[in-house]
Amino acid sequence: MTGNITLTMVKPLAVKQGYTGPILAQIAEAGFRIIALKYLRLSEAQARAFYLVHKDRPFYNDLVRSMTSGPIVAAILEKENAVEAYRALIGPTDPSKAPEGSIRKKFGTSIEANAVHGSDSDDNAITESNFFFSQLERL
Ligand code: CMP
Repeated sequence: MTGNITLTMVKPLAVKQGYTGPILAQIAEAGFRIIALKYLRLSEAQARAFYLVHKDRPFYNDLVRSMTSGPIVAAILEKENAVEAYRALIGPTDPSKAPEGSIRKKFGTSIEANAVHGSDSDDNAITESNFFFSQLERL
């Protein structure tokens, strides 16, 4: 059985460029329900913790630096088969390889500043949603 939630973040550069509104609009138009939403700036410790699975990758420190460079918008999205459906909407990690019309193609700048994060599995969607939101913050 597949889960019905996924966790997204609009990354700092995309927020700075004013893309939060257009990205949330595209998400809503694609049939996702935003069941939790917040605007915050990650501390270095929080960014390191969120991306802990990547701690041994060469890009880890740069990723942490870029994810703490400004505010982000985090949201839980609800839809049937949400993880896969959202990954199709945003396109692959590298915006230059993303299909026309996908969120990362339209709003991404580089593999690091790729506009948005999306959970890569149902288990991670739950872990990542719990990272940002209490039950009280979900509607
Ligand atoms: P995200 O979906 O947030 O998950 C991990 C992030 O690491 C990814 O998007 C990219 O922004 C970033 N990253 C930087 N370099 C790489 C790389 N070479 N391969 C995969 N992810 C990378």
